[in-house]
Amino acid sequence: VETAVKRVVNRIVNLPTLPQMVSTIVSLTGDSNCSIRDVTNAISMDPTISAKILKLVNSAFYGFPSQISNLSQAVVLLGLNTVRNVTLSASVFGTFQKNGNGDGKFDRTACLVHSSSVAFIARYLANKTSRQDSEEAFVGGLLHDIGKLILDTHLSREFIQAVELADAKGMVSTYDAEQEMLGVTHATIGRWLIERWKLPDSLGEAVGYHHAPDEAPGNPRFAALLCMANCMDHALSSSEDGIDPSRISPMALDLLGLEAAHVPGLLDAAREESEKANAFFSALDDAREASG
Ligand SMILES: [Fe+2]
Ligand SMILES: [Fe+2]
Repeated sequence: VETAVKRVVNRIVNLPTLPQMVSTIVSLTGDSNCSIRDVTNAISMDPTISAKILKLVNSAFYGFPSQISNLSQAVVLLGLNTVRNVTLSASVFGTFQKNGNGDGKFDRTACLVHSSSVAFIARYLANKTSRQDSEEAFVGGLLHDIGKLILDTHLSREFIQAVELADAKGMVSTYDAEQEMLGVTHATIGRWLIERWKLPDSLGEAVGYHHAPDEAPGNPRFAALLCMANCMDHALSSSEDGIDPSRISPMALDLLGLEAAHVPGLLDAAREESEKANAFFSALDDAREASG
């Protein structure tokens, strides 16, 4: 196991860097004094992101009545938070969606669809419980499992073994299997990536502890919020004959000041969020849209 950890650490030196334009957008939109013009200028440097912003603003997801072809108008209509979320999402999806070294045993698209769903549910929970900044919650949800995509890219053989072990043992998550086989988990690797991208430490911590929120040293509630959003999306997607509320971590509920009695209502809302997330993901994803 120790050599496996060393291999992870060595290869993680090659972690993808956040494109400069994305860092610029993240820091500009985090500044309350930022101008629409600065943001528009930064986006216009990147034709891919510009095209995605225009595509999203003209998609059925927003349903604006007339065609919008002007980037600064699109930025105004979408708002700075959405512009940042689109920029980050498009960058993350663009980097990881293609199967790199992976042999395709791990379904990256399913992981990304799940991640956008968790982003929407986490934002909803943040608004509902007033426990966390809702846009930070969205980004946390988007990135919570990014460590899996890193593992599938850089340590694909070992990661697939962990996935298979988790399946064989009927584990709900690959988290324990990763710890057992690799000595490191996707949660920790996600935290490393967020540090490398110089996103807020609070975000890194929440991602790093989304499977063990009570161990988060700084803000266990943010980790609990991601834990809960993650559980809810799994509960929704694994339910054929109704949802099993016992899949929601009691510890996460407790940390968020919620009770088991709230779960059914929250799951109804989460289902709507997850549907919105799918529409958002499809609007950003050319391949999916092209294939209907
Ligand atoms: Fe996870
Ligand atoms: Fe997850």
